Amino acid sequence: MKLLVINGPNLNMLGIREPGVYGAQTYDQLVEYIHGVCAREGVAVECFQSNHEGAIVDRIQNAYGREDGIVINPAAYTHTSVAILDALKAVHLPAVEVHLSDVRKREDFRQISYAGMACEKTVIGLGFQGYEEAILYLKARLER
Ligand code: DQA
Repeated sequence: MKLLVINGPNLNMLGIREPGVYGAQTYDQLVEYIHGVCAREGVAVECFQSNHEGAIVDRIQNAYGREDGIVINPAAYTHTSVAILDALKAVHLPAVEVHLSDVRKREDFRQISYAGMACEKTVIGLGFQGYEEAILYLKARLER
């Protein structure tokens, strides 16, 4: 079983970026955390981060036939990108949407999620632990 974890724009700035909202830990620490969870669970994983919508669409398309499930935090593209929604629908792999912050309690423009429309589950406001929940969900889902 192999999972793909995608992080969108500005998540490479974790630790520097609005620590009151996103926490003090860096993107490298997030990748380390994800690898730790996946090693413990016996799941192979690849982490991908990009600030570019098209690069994220390309990586989702490349997951077809290569990975078994997708964990995605599309960051700001969550609220704008029909292209990412369509890519997730195109590859029809089980996907889980993750947000570090509790977007429900934030601005109106964060209340819509296009990517979420193609995801089986959404985990929000749990910080790094949200990625663990998503990984555990996909593992159980794929073992079924
Ligand atoms: C985010 C929430 C988005 O609204 C925001 O644009 C981000 C990060 C989160 O993880 O909480 O960049 O996806």
